[in-house]
Amino acid sequence: IENPPEEHDALIATLSIHPFIMRPVTSPHQLRLYKGNWINQFFLRGALAMQQHFKSRPTDIFLASYPKSGTTWLKAMIFATMTRTSYPLDQHPLCTHNPHQCISSMEKEFSIGNSQIIEAIPSPRVMNTHLQYSVLPESITNPDCRIIYVWRDPKDVLVSEWYFVKKIYMDVDEKATFDQFYELFCQGVGPFGSIWNHVLGYWKESKLRPEKILFLKYKHILQEPVKYAKKLAHFVGCPYSKAEENQGVIEQIVELCSFKKLKELDVNKGGESVTNDVHISYADFFRKGEVGDWKNHMTTEMAERLDAITKEKFKGSGIEI
Ligand code: A3P
Repeated sequence: IENPPEEHDALIATLSIHPFIMRPVTSPHQLRLYKGNWINQFFLRGALAMQQHFKSRPTDIFLASYPKSGTTWLKAMIFATMTRTSYPLDQHPLCTHNPHQCISSMEKEFSIGNSQIIEAIPSPRVMNTHLQYSVLPESITNPDCRIIYVWRDPKDVLVSEWYFVKKIYMDVDEKATFDQFYELFCQGVGPFGSIWNHVLGYWKESKLRPEKILFLKYKHILQEPVKYAKKLAHFVGCPYSKAEENQGVIEQIVELCSFKKLKELDVNKGGESVTNDVHISYADFFRKGEVGDWKNHMTTEMAERLDAITKEKFKGSGIEI
C-alpha cells in the first residue's frame, strides 16, 4: 500500500519551527517540535506515515540509532552476517553497494511515499530507523520485534554530525560555527532531537526486554569487533557454527565491514544517494571511524560541559558512560 507523502503535512504545519542556524526558512528540512523533541520535518512526515501504515512482522529486526553513532557500520555488519552463506565473501554485495543500499531507512522511504519498498522486503526483514523510541509506530514496539540499538559518546557524535551536516547543507550555511552547533546540540536541537532522550528511550526498553533489544556502544564494538560480531549473529538468529569459527569466518566478516575496507571501495568513494533535493556522497559516511576525535575540536570546558550533561541526564539509569 503506497502512502501519500503529503497526508500529514497539515498537522506538521501547525508545529513550532526551530530557528535552526543550519536551515533557511524555505528549507523542506525545518526542525519541528513533536512530542517534546525536535525533528526534521522530512523525517516527521515519515514517522507519522509509519505510525499510520507500518505493520510489523514477528520476525522483523530494526537497527535503531541516533545519527552518526555507527549506523553505516552496523548496517554492514548485520547485512553481512545474515547473508554470509549466500555469497563468497570476496564477491559479497557489500563490495559493490553502500550499506545504506542494503538496509533501508524506514522514515526516509515513508516520507517520500515509498512504503511499498519496505513491504516488499522478504522476511526476516532488517530495517533502520533514527526515530526516538517514543515516536516509533506501536507495531514496532510489540514484544516480538527485535531491536539493535547502537550509541556513541555524544562528544564524538557531535563532531561527526558537524562534518556531515556541513557537507550536506554547505551551500546554505557558510556562517554557522562549530560553537553554535555545539550549543544547539547541548540543547537537544538536531534532526532527531536530543541524543540523551534518544539513548534513554531505547535503554529503558532494553532493560524491560533484554532478550529483544540489544543495546550496544560504538566504542565497545571497535575494541572487540569479533566478540560483538558473534553477539550480533546470535541475536539475529544466525549464530556462527563451530566450523565457521574454525575457518575464521567471523574475522572475515569483521574485516569485510571494517572502516578501512569499506572506505576504500569504489562505491563508497564515488557513489551517492539522492533523495528529493538532498545529495549524500557515500564517502561522507566514512570520515575517521575513531573514538575520541572530539579532542581535536573542543576545548576542555566544552567537553566537560557536555560530559556533565550526559552524566546528569543518565543519572540513575544504569547506563555505563
Ligand atoms: P566519524 O565522523 O567520527 O568518523 P553513521 O553511520 O551513524 O552516520 O555514523 C557515521 C560515523 O561512523 C562516522 O564517524 C564514520 O566514520 C563511522 N564509521 C562508518 N563506517 C565505519 C566502520 N566500518 N567502522 C567504524 N566506524 C565507522
